[in-house]
Amino acid sequence: MKGLILSGGAGKRLRPITHTSAKQLVPVANKPILFYGIEEMASAGITDIGIVVAPATGDEIRQAVGDGSKFGVRVTWIPQHAPLGLAHCVLVASDFLADDDFVMYLGDNMLEAGLAAFVDRFVSARTGSGTSRSYGGAPSAQILLARVSDPGSFGVAEIGPDGRLLRLVEKPEKPPSDLALVGVYLFDKTIHDAVEQIEASARGELEITDAIDWLIAEGYRVDHEVLSGWWIDTGKKDPLLECNRLVLDTFGRSIEGDVDDASSVDGQVVLEAGAKVIDSTVRGPAIIGSGTTVEHSDIGPYVSIAADCRISGSEIDNSVVLRRSTVSDIARLTDSLVGRDTVLSRSTRAGEAGRGGADGPEGPGPGAVRVMVGDHCRVEIE
Ligand code: G1P
Repeated sequence: MKGLILSGGAGKRLRPITHTSAKQLVPVANKPILFYGIEEMASAGITDIGIVVAPATGDEIRQAVGDGSKFGVRVTWIPQHAPLGLAHCVLVASDFLADDDFVMYLGDNMLEAGLAAFVDRFVSARTGSGTSRSYGGAPSAQILLARVSDPGSFGVAEIGPDGRLLRLVEKPEKPPSDLALVGVYLFDKTIHDAVEQIEASARGELEITDAIDWLIAEGYRVDHEVLSGWWIDTGKKDPLLECNRLVLDTFGRSIEGDVDDASSVDGQVVLEAGAKVIDSTVRGPAIIGSGTTVEHSDIGPYVSIAADCRISGSEIDNSVVLRRSTVSDIARLTDSLVGRDTVLSRSTRAGEAGRGGADGPEGPGPGAVRVMVGDHCRVEIE
């Protein structure tokens, strides 16, 4: 069994962060989303992994992952020259995949359940009988479904009264069910025939949904299961913040950095070695990276601050702040994603008049700030 991780794509829905960085490298609880997928594969025993990358972000991803040895896997890099769809990724990866069974994983998806049980089920369903076009044969694919409130944003499954998968349709206007395709798929070599047979969709992509639908229509057995546990396509800010909350919730408490006597650090907080908390409150769940200083601030809950940041005089909750960024004198930063090397501060030009605002010095002061700012930005708030 091989692994194929798709880590290309333009990441349009996470702009501006993705103007300068790959969406799969945006951190959740201070770890790139992509790393969770690689680790999941490794713990399912899959060590031969191909990663499909785009020209614009391939080098950055290669650099972050290295040769895979830090995850205990071997990585083969597979360039895709243009974002022509998930099924196109299978086409460009065909030399790497050869005739082996494989698990395909979308690099921006995260799920609570591990891959191991899902992979084991496919392996045992395929042992003993060969793939054939009679439904009684071994499955040639296995998909994972999740109930969602907005099925029109995903690939959607239609299930018959006998529980059999009838068809799959990509981003339908009238979804036949609320069962969305999760970005984890298992295939045998038959998928290579399917991706050659299908045509580009209205958005100009070769859809893996159409390729699996082709398998069903041709009489191949496609197994499915409905996920319990959470699943998030992290490609937008709010799902990404939700994912950050879910992962932080699983963390324990570990204080390796310095906390001064004027500060309190409560609950599930990870304070990495070299981080400093000065005259501040940190309420978990939260993670603060090494080399980051937090002073005169209230942090949490549900905040991930990457390494080498500087936070002062600010309140931050439900937010992700990337490396080497500064947040200073922001009354309340909430529901936000702040890129790398970015400075978010109160304008010094506003002076005292700006600080009190129309409500006067005793009023509630400036409202909460909710932002999504990219890398290398400077934002001054009056
Ligand atoms: C892709 C697939 C879709 C699937 C989704 C899961 O959508 O085309 O079938 O449900 O991933 O994240 P995309 O992210 O390309 O819009």
